[in-house]
Amino acid sequence: MAATNYKTFWDDKASTTTGAFIAVDGSANEDVARLTGAYTARQVACALDLQPGDRVLELGCGVGRIGRELAPKVAHWEGADISANMLGVARERLADFTNVGLTELKRTRLETLPSASFSKAYCVAVFIHMDKEDFFLYLEELARVLEPGGLVFFDTWNLASDIGWRRFALEVDQHRNADPSHRKDVARNQFSTPEEVRTFAQRAGFEPLATFSDSPWVQAVAIKTGGRRDAVAERARVERDASRIAYTPLWNELFDAMVRVSGGGLQPQAMLEALGDDARGEEVAMFRVWFRELWRHNEAHWGPLPAGLA
Ligand SMILES: C[S@@+](CC[C@H](N)C(=O)[O-])C[C@H]1O[C@@H](n2cnc3c(N)ncnc32)[C@H](O)[C@@H]1O
Repeated sequence: MAATNYKTFWDDKASTTTGAFIAVDGSANEDVARLTGAYTARQVACALDLQPGDRVLELGCGVGRIGRELAPKVAHWEGADISANMLGVARERLADFTNVGLTELKRTRLETLPSASFSKAYCVAVFIHMDKEDFFLYLEELARVLEPGGLVFFDTWNLASDIGWRRFALEVDQHRNADPSHRKDVARNQFSTPEEVRTFAQRAGFEPLATFSDSPWVQAVAIKTGGRRDAVAERARVERDASRIAYTPLWNELFDAMVRVSGGGLQPQAMLEALGDDARGEEVAMFRVWFRELWRHNEAHWGPLPAGLA
């Protein structure tokens, strides 16, 4: 039976360590998590201008894919998640760090975390899996636990970009002939527009600094109002660093190809050439392992994993 709440859904996904890894980045191994984790961690660190003295909260930390990379760079890193099973894997992966805390959430609240107790917070690939009301409630909570002038970085799927729309169309196809007596998955993919994201951030008590949306993601950087940090200077900094926060044209091209392959509009073999050319940039290596996992899950339809990916 389909899970009816977030906790059951994610605990079920993360009932094994392999399942937990697959649920956070589609892969099933530590090496891939380290590769994709380092990539995302660079975006987060840059968006939030992370400093050694920062107390940082990650909402929806999963297995600590990003936290494992960021914890050594800050004073305290706290990972919060609705799934005890996810946190179990994170606990093992982060066991060597003494500046790490893990918080199991019971509902859409950060109730055990005191107000104004963090200087920075982020949330990656989590709001895409919840109802809009819960997305907003969590933004309000992030505003509460951040000190005035604290910075937040978060993302969601972007309905307003062509690639984001193609990603949405994959979901629509799944529901076209759905059994009307079945309720949709509680954690299915949800999509937003940049305008909606800015409205949510403002209404939750943040001043948006930038929204990057030339990709299937809306990535938002915002500041909690009322602090001494100069919002104008922060906005200028974020805009200056845009190319290190936002997804690159190459990332978009490769992601779009993966979406087309998943939707049946592009033969999987068509991606192999692009993925063989490391001279195009470091993202190629990341997509190669990512696509390898996708192929593994689809061998029944696509045939055996080709030598170039194995
Ligand atoms: C796709 S994973 C992303 C994990 C991590 N942010 C990363 O990028 O590696 C989504 C995570 O969000 C957590 N999550 C989903 N719904 C949640 C909710 N309502 N409250 C808190 N965490 C939630 C899941 O348990 C899971 O660990």
